[in-house]
Amino acid sequence: MENQVQKKRIFSGIQPSGELTLGSYMGAIKNWVALQDEYECVYCIVDMHAITVRQNPADLRRRALEQLAQYIACGLDPQKCILFIQSHAPQHAELSWILGCYTQFGELSRMTQFKQKSQQHADNITAGLFTYPVLMAADILLYQADLVPVGEDQRQHVELTRDIAQRFNGVYGETFVLPEAFIPKMGARVMSLGNPENKMSKSDPEGCVFIMDQPEVIQRKFKRAVTDSEMAVKFDKENKPGVSNLLTIYCAATGKTLEEAEAEFAGQGYGVFKPAVGEAVIELMRPIREEAQRLMGDKAYLESVYRDGAQRAQRMAQKTLSKVQRKVGFVAR
Ligand code: TYM
Repeated sequence: MENQVQKKRIFSGIQPSGELTLGSYMGAIKNWVALQDEYECVYCIVDMHAITVRQNPADLRRRALEQLAQYIACGLDPQKCILFIQSHAPQHAELSWILGCYTQFGELSRMTQFKQKSQQHADNITAGLFTYPVLMAADILLYQADLVPVGEDQRQHVELTRDIAQRFNGVYGETFVLPEAFIPKMGARVMSLGNPENKMSKSDPEGCVFIMDQPEVIQRKFKRAVTDSEMAVKFDKENKPGVSNLLTIYCAATGKTLEEAEAEFAGQGYGVFKPAVGEAVIELMRPIREEAQRLMGDKAYLESVYRDGAQRAQRMAQKTLSKVQRKVGFVAR
């Protein structure tokens, strides 16, 4: 028998609910790229998740395509990994329904993201917003993913996914691989530049750096970054959240350690430090922005990537879905 070791699987996704941010790059995409050689990777543009809050249809369509171009520009290679759009694989919605019947109302009520988003969108708290984590569990479990590279804020959803998988396996026997969150050491929670107590998020554009921001915009945002009234460039999350966030960003962008970065800026004020962080981010983003712009001009190529991705994704997803449908007692089609 051939002694072929099965590569471990990875699944992750980002919502096209806004432009890609430095937070999603450092928390997620950077690891996606790093893992694509050693694992069998499936990366998704989760447009079905995005409509849990109201979207402008034309913008959503445009952003999904731009996001694909940006994934590739960040270094994801469509030859090595599967890149596709969630709504192109109907198995996600089908499995989501089934898993929803194995998820407790109480569990979903405890999800931090749901609590936050239902405050932000108090006039439109839909059933979709509530069951969002079930769809995410379906995404992950359909591909039998071992690892899910995400930022810290998604840990709770991955844990819920494990609980749902474990419960289902308990009732019907081994069906799903139990996934684990894969969270980076540096950049797991990039904070807002304007308010370092909050996560960097697309809903706060001034505190947020976007992958496609022009260099002068990036530099302006870093120069205005909120710090503190001291002078020392030291990592101290409690007392110096702004400086600590900038140090983290600098290290994630340059690959340096915190100690190296502190030593580099020892004795220098924020007037030197902040533009240096801006410069590091500009250089990190420059090739990505330029390549994404080039790819956006090649719609035929992007279309071929997401079409091929959808076919490959569906083939993998259907295997799991068929097994699940059989186990819960549906008549074979
Ligand atoms: P989303 O679209 O909000 O964010 C995409 C990814 O970026 C990470 N991230 C951050 N990391 C560090 N610092 C930040 N400031 C920051 N902001 C965002 C997020 O942790 C995430 O990894 N529910 C998911 C999307 C999703 C998904 C999935 C992820 C749907 N299905 C299946 C993994 C597997 C979400 O809302 O991510």
